Amino acid sequence: MSVQQFIPKPYTASVKNGSFKWSSPSNIALVKYWGKKEDQIPENPSLSFTLSDCKTITNLIFSEKQNQDNFSFEVFLDDDKKDDFKPKIETFFKRVEVFLPFLRHYHFKIETSNTFPHSSGIASSASGMSALALCLMSLEKALNNEVSDEFFIKKASFLARLGSGSACRSLEGDTVVWGHHNEIKGSSDLFGTKYPFEVHDNFKNYQDTILLVDKGEKQVSSTVGHNLMHGHPFASKRFSQAHKNLSNLITILNDGDLDAFIKIVESEALTLHAMMMTSMPYFILMKPNTIEIIYKIWGYRETSNSKICFTLDAGANVHVLYPEYETESVMKFIKNELVVYCQNGHYICDKIGFGAKQL
Ligand code: DP6
Repeated sequence: MSVQQFIPKPYTASVKNGSFKWSSPSNIALVKYWGKKEDQIPENPSLSFTLSDCKTITNLIFSEKQNQDNFSFEVFLDDDKKDDFKPKIETFFKRVEVFLPFLRHYHFKIETSNTFPHSSGIASSASGMSALALCLMSLEKALNNEVSDEFFIKKASFLARLGSGSACRSLEGDTVVWGHHNEIKGSSDLFGTKYPFEVHDNFKNYQDTILLVDKGEKQVSSTVGHNLMHGHPFASKRFSQAHKNLSNLITILNDGDLDAFIKIVESEALTLHAMMMTSMPYFILMKPNTIEIIYKIWGYRETSNSKICFTLDAGANVHVLYPEYETESVMKFIKNELVVYCQNGHYICDKIGFGAKQL
């Protein structure tokens, strides 16, 4: 499937001004995306659970302008003007301009807010870029009434990917695949697609409690980390491992095999960080408390029947994953034994969710 399909024909309608508002969630990868080629093409397929409560809400207010020389936009986070967000959005606009030729025709006011604290160490790029992509697609749809619902979501995911790779997995729920995989029909490097197979009831309403170990800015951005996979000594093995892990997950998700699920999910998390530790330059994003929590989780699992496990994204925070029926016991364990490792005792309770919504 080619990118040509996302270049629109001349628009049929005209719209002078208006606004569109979307909320879009974050997502947590079980099979990780780490390493990309040019144009935000992933080196391997990834699979994520969409989250429910960690969301970005974006209101895009637009008005037609005369001069079409430049992009014109301003960004507000919780009513504060955020000029430091502008370079990332400018880069995004440049990348997607060929697919959204109206971008220079409007002045945009982008009002955005997150349901999670900005300085929580939770990346807002997945929820933020997907919310913005959806607002822009709403404008495209107003300019061309023929856009179908299916194409709308596909192109929004395609655009979100160009803003931040993992953002293309945030639009739908509850499980999303991004990146071509031989056994998953319809999977694509260009956009995220809903996981097409049966998922066992064990994974319904799966819980994710995010332990905020370090709320600071991370020292190494994901983009830099992805680039360090070029020439990485273990890169090609890692990329084929991701394909294999995803193949195995298909059976595991179908059978509801929680023990096998834990093995893949924790191994993926540790492999992601192992790639960081073995790149040149090398770096470590985990903190001592990240490791303390991992040991505690392993200890708890050994002394109980719990199917609790952890995953990590590109930072020190720990996502604690567990089936819904364990919520009461695991929350007790978290409060009694894990909260002490969280910065200011902070954590966020979330669960699997169903994707973005127009407001
Ligand atoms: C570790 O999507 O933030 O969370 O494409 O450069 O914006 P860019 O990177 P980003 O990378 C996320 C990496 C990850 C794993 C994952 O979500 O699959």
